Amino acid sequence: MSQQQQTVLISSHTQIGEGYYVVGVASPWLAQASQPGQFVMCRLPNANLLWGRAFSVYDVVGDEVFLLYKVMGRGTSLLSEKKVGEQLEIIGPLGNTFSKPKPDQFLLLVGGGVGLPPLYFYAKTYQEQASQMRVMIGARDKENVILEEEFKALGCQVEVSTDDGSAGLKGLVTELLKKAIRNNSKIKDKLLIASCGPNPMLKAVSAIGIEEKIPTEISMEESMACGLGVCIGCVVKTHCSPEQKEELKRDETYTRLCCEGPVLEGSRVIWE
Ligand SMILES: Cc1cc2nc3c(=O)[nH]c(=O)nc-3n(C[C@H](O)[C@H](O)[C@H](O)COP(=O)(O)OP(=O)(O)OC[C@H]3O[C@@H](n4cnc5c(N)ncnc54)[C@H](O)[C@@H]3O)c2cc1C
Ligand code: FES
Repeated sequence: MSQQQQTVLISSHTQIGEGYYVVGVASPWLAQASQPGQFVMCRLPNANLLWGRAFSVYDVVGDEVFLLYKVMGRGTSLLSEKKVGEQLEIIGPLGNTFSKPKPDQFLLLVGGGVGLPPLYFYAKTYQEQASQMRVMIGARDKENVILEEEFKALGCQVEVSTDDGSAGLKGLVTELLKKAIRNNSKIKDKLLIASCGPNPMLKAVSAIGIEEKIPTEISMEESMACGLGVCIGCVVKTHCSPEQKEELKRDETYTRLCCEGPVLEGSRVIWE
């Protein structure tokens, strides 16, 4: 299904933590079409913002689609003031998706901050495999640990790490990932890593995936302007796929995250 531009009504809007909100919009089309990993471009009518803001699909319940966001700057601050019944302009669903896991695969989901919402939608979509999912949540501190209970309610195993040790392991979430790989070394060929969060985390997760020879999908959240593949504002440098190598006769290219991503194989990204 392709994307649509729609004016939708806010059906719910809840603060779930310090600076974190979940906004629900009523859209049967978006609810039916959205797949895990995809996102929407969201514009606020009359807000005088040049561009929309990108948000991953966090959840779908019936005809309602939910976005989980953190207030970062002007756009998200204005969004947080919107009330139930007010309008949003949405283009979506956009981008590609995380792979459908094979029935015998064991998923290691590694998320940081607002990278967790698309991983939640991924886990919920394949909830019948939740007992084969380990979720690792990384955060600066306890206040920024989100969705821990929600992942547990799906049946996933959940671990937390924080930079300051105020919740879970004190340290980086990649330490939890390395431990999970060690603990599952007997089924290493069945492991699949999916990750979303800040770029330094994605870079480290990708490096672990390459070293351990485990397929690793990362969803990157570069700033986006058009969201439609037109402005070239969201490109990242990548190794060419075998098909691109054949066609372009070179090893490296630029990939538009909004339409050829946001989910990429970690091993394809050339980190700069
Ligand atoms: C595919 C995709 C999915 C996303 N999903 C979510 C989501 O589910 N929930 C969520 O809260 N955010 C998500 N983001 C990030 C979100 O788009 C930005 O946080 C938002 O655009 C900030 O807008 P603003 O006007 O509030 O801040 P701005 O005034 O534009 O920026 C304020 C601060 O936020 C930083 N910032 C801006 N854009 C990004 C970005 N893309 N990533 C990291 N920092 C940024 C700026 O550097 C600046 O420091 C996603 C981004 C992409 C590309
Ligand atoms: S955001 Fe414009 S090309 Fe991707």
